[in-house]
Amino acid sequence: MYSHDVVIVGSGLAGLRAAMELAGHLDVAVVTKVYPSRSHSGAAQGGVAAALGNMDGDTPEAHLYDTVKGSDFLADQDAAEILTSDAIRTIYEMEHFGCPFSRTPENKIAQRAFGGHSYQRACYSADRTGHALLHTLFEQTYRQGGNIQIYSEWYMLRLIVEEGIARGIVAMDIQTGRIEVFRAKTVLFATGGYGRAYKITSNAFANTGDGISAAYRAGIPLMDMEFVQFHPTGLYQHGILLSEAARGEGGYLLNGNGERFMQKYAPSKMELGPRDIVSRSEQTEINEGRGAGPNKDYVYLDLRHLGREKIMERLPQVYHLAKDFIGVDAAEAPVPIQPTAHYSMGGIPADKDCQVLLDEKGNKVTGFYAAGECSCISVHGANRLGTNSLLDALVFGRRAGKSILAATEGASFAPVDEKKELAAARREIDSLLHNGATEDLHAIREELKETMTLKVGVYRNGEQMKEAHGTIKELQARFVNVRVDDRRKNFNTNLLEALELGHMLEYSELIVAGAEVRTESRGAHARDDYPTRDDENWLAHTLAFRKDDGGYELKYKPVTITRFKPVERTY
Ligand code: FUM
Repeated sequence: MYSHDVVIVGSGLAGLRAAMELAGHLDVAVVTKVYPSRSHSGAAQGGVAAALGNMDGDTPEAHLYDTVKGSDFLADQDAAEILTSDAIRTIYEMEHFGCPFSRTPENKIAQRAFGGHSYQRACYSADRTGHALLHTLFEQTYRQGGNIQIYSEWYMLRLIVEEGIARGIVAMDIQTGRIEVFRAKTVLFATGGYGRAYKITSNAFANTGDGISAAYRAGIPLMDMEFVQFHPTGLYQHGILLSEAARGEGGYLLNGNGERFMQKYAPSKMELGPRDIVSRSEQTEINEGRGAGPNKDYVYLDLRHLGREKIMERLPQVYHLAKDFIGVDAAEAPVPIQPTAHYSMGGIPADKDCQVLLDEKGNKVTGFYAAGECSCISVHGANRLGTNSLLDALVFGRRAGKSILAATEGASFAPVDEKKELAAARREIDSLLHNGATEDLHAIREELKETMTLKVGVYRNGEQMKEAHGTIKELQARFVNVRVDDRRKNFNTNLLEALELGHMLEYSELIVAGAEVRTESRGAHARDDYPTRDDENWLAHTLAFRKDDGGYELKYKPVTITRFKPVERTY
């Protein structure tokens, strides 16, 4: 058994930022299924928000209002205020850590426009902002020296919670197949989102929502799972992110008839409307037959008028992704795009100090914290604004580090039954490796992803969601008999895929369940059959609890409104 004061699961921005805060004070382990510099934070492209006001008269208050309005008034406003008021300090801190932000001619940090923001507030490093921030933090983590031990390519199997106290995790060394208990005084999950449950997604292969599901299995409810963000510019059929920075720099969206269709849907913001609205607009164009291509199932991102020089300076990654994956030279031709599952607004409920909540009354789990995309604090409500995610990970990663330090110094280890935990983990693995299983893992996974994309996607309705729910139930039943062909211990990615699929099947049901019951449209949850927002009945967060029989129960809790009363959301 390993022992560390603090075990952080996940090595993206939130996990590393928390680790930095703890280094030198406590013995910290970072357990991560990928090598840290491959964490999905590195895939964020266009920017990180802060009201520096380098290009205009921006203020943190304007940032807060845009965030709350963007969330379709589901964000908890006290939490959103922490996000936006700590943004400026966060950016200068990252600059001083060495992040190579792009500059203005006066050598200030350059800022570009982004969807749903009323000022140019996205600080950026060309279109590789997440990459620049992640590598900067990773270097800083190493600079902290001895107190942070990184366990790369370890897969977390279980969260250990007993009597409301988190006691550690069980994890498997992917290289050898060895399973170990990690005892901890405090556990932080910074395990990322759950976009991989969708077929068309911008998410990395690792984003299978393992942390969210492990928390749920350990008795913690999941919050607002029905809110899944679709990014408007996923590369057609691949789903790969083409940064919103492309529109921030002046790119157009065109339908199959060559029309700038956003004129109809968000005349004042055009292509820089918030993501939920732009994705819906694209989907409407496609659904109504104005898409492009032989099947009329995509629209275009047009950058040609920006010119090759500007494209290569500001959007080199966007250019190369289009060129390398579908052979389109964005300086010469419009790029086929479609909405892609991008961000999980839902996740593990946590308070403003990132401590995990046990129920709708606000009771907390001792020694368990969550930050970054896996958490639901909730700063993004029903729809996150672009560039607020990197900010969220940095602000709340640091904040988690601070609260963990205060809670853990002087604390002692709660007892862990190592034998019992190892046996439970082995049981789960053995049940997947049993002989005679017949169900094809890949077929189950593909059907799940297709179902989620087609029936619980940009637009939803009761009938389709009922079908999706039924399909997920069938897939869950088939999964009991799933076949894992590879029986080896070392680098058994076949086994990992099966473990991940088990998680995906479990929480996908909660996405559908929350969405079916929520008879309104709000932010990213858009129903054809209930097209309007209903504040009277649904200005509330969903909490899904796991029942002993494996079923779920939904409960609700109020949204925290401090400064801005919900109003109609127009752009
Ligand atoms: O479009 C983008 O560059 C993505 C940014 C984000 O999700 O915040």
